[in-house]
Amino acid sequence: MRSLARSTPNIALIKYWGNRNEELRLPMADSLSMTLDHPTVEISIEESNQFAIHSFDPQGKKKTLTEKQVNRWKKTLDLCCTYLKTLGAPDALPKNITLGVRSHIPPAVGLASSAAVFSCLGKAIAGFIAPSIALTDEQVSILARLGSGSAARSIFGGFSALLAGEGMDIKSSAAIQIAPEDHWPLHDIIVIPSHDEKKVGSTEGHALASTSPFYAQRVEDIRSRRQPECIDAILKRDFEKLQRVTEEDALDMHHVMETSTPPLKYLTADTHRIVNAIKDLRTKEHLPVLFTMDAGPTVHLICTEEAESKVLAFANAQKGCTIFSTKVGPGAQIIA
Ligand code: DP6
Repeated sequence: MRSLARSTPNIALIKYWGNRNEELRLPMADSLSMTLDHPTVEISIEESNQFAIHSFDPQGKKKTLTEKQVNRWKKTLDLCCTYLKTLGAPDALPKNITLGVRSHIPPAVGLASSAAVFSCLGKAIAGFIAPSIALTDEQVSILARLGSGSAARSIFGGFSALLAGEGMDIKSSAAIQIAPEDHWPLHDIIVIPSHDEKKVGSTEGHALASTSPFYAQRVEDIRSRRQPECIDAILKRDFEKLQRVTEEDALDMHHVMETSTPPLKYLTADTHRIVNAIKDLRTKEHLPVLFTMDAGPTVHLICTEEAESKVLAFANAQKGCTIFSTKVGPGAQIIA
């Protein structure tokens, strides 16, 4: 038995930051994202006589995983088995499997690979266990969430939301699709000013969210206003509304990060310079473009098809930055 899946990262418009249960990655608040068309990650699962993971870089060269990375894989697989047990399929995924992980995400480009990797794992598991149990996409998103919260959203193409849900049950939070890939052909031009490894990863960062005095208000604002407004903007293809709510949410997340104990400062002078420059260009040229940043200095410039060439020219003119041009994509797929 063998299965092969492919997936991609996503860019959050309403950011996931903070969990009510760290172990199970149950988020405090809903989040929403656009799934990107590339770069891709592929994962194969094969039955074997012992557990092994083989990881390859974009050139196909074998990578050595750290103990921390191997432990994250093992822990995720254990949690996936626990979840499958609740679905009445405790033995669907054997302990002895060989995972082949091939990432086309260039190392150190400041693109979080965990969303692509764990959505891909969720889909590969779904393919592998298909002969014994057929999972819905929502159920696959739960498998993905157990490896990385934001990965749940990459199960779907187009625009999707991770619903926080309630309670402490392993299946109490899942992703849903808000609109398919062909609903709104938005682009994400990614401007990467620094190749430094981030000091505090998202997993550690989520645990600090509640130490910010502004966190409770953030959760409330997403619940009562920002998430519904963002969904509405997407459904109506209202770019101005999307820009307002997305930028507000990104800045609010960074405010929470910077006021947590210890403070997390992901944005750099380069980030602020790029953001100010795109704001100037937007005003001058009336360009439908918005900015957002995840847990790093990288600036994502999301724009409509008509603005794409001008935004790309702007990005290419940023000195010392690596540029990655992406657009809305189809989400995780089983390919064999
Ligand atoms: C800032 O999903 O990377 O990118 O579950 O620990 O892997 P883990 O966290 P992760 O957190 C994402 C944080 C974010 C915002 C977002 O993508 O929603």
